[in-house]
Amino acid sequence: MPPLSRSAPRNAGRCRFPAPIPMSYARPPPDRPDFGGVVTKGRTLTKSAFPVSRRALVAGGALGLFGLVAPAAAAKKPHRHETNAATKDMPLVADPTGTPLVYPPLVDVKPGETYELAAAPATHAFLKDRPVAVIGYGGSYMGPALRLKRGETATVRVVNRLERPTNVHWHGLMVEGRWDGGTGPVLAPGESFEARLAVDQPAATLWYHAHVHGHTTRDVHDGLAGLLIVDDGTAGLLGLPQTWGVDDLPLVLQDRDFDEKGTPVLPPLSAALEHGFRGHTPIVNGIADALARVPERLVRLRLLNAAGARTFRLAFEDRRPFHLVATDGGVLDAPVELTFLPLAPGERAEILVDFSVGPANLMTEPDVHEHRMGAEVVSLPDVLSGPTRVVAFAPERDSGPAAPLPKALVPLAALPESTLGLPRRRFELRVGPAAAAATAHAHGGMTMAMPAGAVDPYTGHVTAGAADAPALTINGKSFAADRIDEKVTLGATEVWEIVCPDMAHPFHLHGAQARVLSEDGERPKLWNAGVKDTVLVENSAELLITFGRSADAATPFVFHCHLLEHEDGGMMGTFTVT
Ligand code: C2O
Ligand code: CU
Ligand code: CU
Repeated sequence: MPPLSRSAPRNAGRCRFPAPIPMSYARPPPDRPDFGGVVTKGRTLTKSAFPVSRRALVAGGALGLFGLVAPAAAAKKPHRHETNAATKDMPLVADPTGTPLVYPPLVDVKPGETYELAAAPATHAFLKDRPVAVIGYGGSYMGPALRLKRGETATVRVVNRLERPTNVHWHGLMVEGRWDGGTGPVLAPGESFEARLAVDQPAATLWYHAHVHGHTTRDVHDGLAGLLIVDDGTAGLLGLPQTWGVDDLPLVLQDRDFDEKGTPVLPPLSAALEHGFRGHTPIVNGIADALARVPERLVRLRLLNAAGARTFRLAFEDRRPFHLVATDGGVLDAPVELTFLPLAPGERAEILVDFSVGPANLMTEPDVHEHRMGAEVVSLPDVLSGPTRVVAFAPERDSGPAAPLPKALVPLAALPESTLGLPRRRFELRVGPAAAAATAHAHGGMTMAMPAGAVDPYTGHVTAGAADAPALTINGKSFAADRIDEKVTLGATEVWEIVCPDMAHPFHLHGAQARVLSEDGERPKLWNAGVKDTVLVENSAELLITFGRSADAATPFVFHCHLLEHEDGGMMGTFTVT
């Protein structure tokens, strides 16, 4: 099949912006489509803008710039699972080994029925033949994939069968604030809530997960996440593979460290607030060292990054090209050929991969990330030292039809010629030292029920906000559930300028979808050309957002960093749409 490439999004260069984005901070290197070595530079820690004690550096290494490493975390070295150390000696699955990948069951939620989704204890084996106790939806670690039809209203009864408070947020689903689950209601053990989900948006791969402030990192880690599929009946028309579990494969990407029993372990929130936890072992649909048997033809992979902090930097080991066909909010106007795709926490991407050319290993490059401190740039290493296999694919001949690569999908709405005259808001995401002015706000609304630094009676973990914790803020404010930060007019189209001076953040908002107008003042990256609800912002980005769902002050929408430790630590704000 002829490779279909597209050099630039169709809208490139068509927007003019009233003012350039101030860039007083250092720029990171451009995204490297190359899948190779690690660039490290500018390691002069002592001259940094934020004072760093030597003790903190010794205790925490590069991940403890603010001296946040708790003694307990430092003492408990996670067991390193041996399957992911290196990629050499990793055959291109000629003799396939690995744990067979399984897919969450696809469940149609029909109008007129009430589907019960219980958050409950479960048993799951992340590592082969080593079942451990977890929690999950519907009694499984990776809950059912709920499929909703456009034009219908689904009723889902969320039931809390756990011993911790919980709720469910429908990430990417465009529903009113009262059904969104982002801020409430929070269900005590034994309680339930009926969400009425009126589905009116194009087909897309969405997800659902727990969203209790201060607990999301732990809850998603422990298993409270599942897929949500919107179906509008167009997949067949567009020629996209659509047989679930055969040529339409959901791959939920996460990373974990395990103890000797095979139970995932997570450091206390306070120890990972600044950069988040990254595990040594990639897991797919909850399975480490996964092997997927796939038909020897074009297959659709629905990728979701449900990790807390890791950006998966994906490429096939043999560098084969693949085609991006959909982003968070649905299909692109045409497939985009890529060999490399970064996927940040919360983001989704649907890709078409041709397995007629042989077996493949999907790899992730280490998630080396940068912390910019004034003129200094600190490159923070990942726990992965090299490209690491996420999943192996073993193609097999089958009788299914070999679909060609679709030439066109659905036209994206044209971006405006100019954004002059549109309301603009600016959001600055900061990871600041505790002594910054922001600290005044840092602990006010840290959790709904507990003071900062308290031990959570449900999970035993220490909440964020210890005295020396970094201030995680948006526009100088840490999250407060009872404060409305922005008021948007229903139906309005606005430009939101997201500015990340310290490091990259995956910016997410509820109740609305965005188009990326620019990144660092330039045209968006290829993989950000579609409809998005989560955007990895390296330095700055301009988002064009139309607010089509209402949310009042009782159940406002939220915007936040989807690096879950940042979200739990307070990098979140509220907005109403009325
Ligand atoms: Cu996926 Cu506010 O979250
Ligand atoms: Cu969301
Ligand atoms: Cu962040």
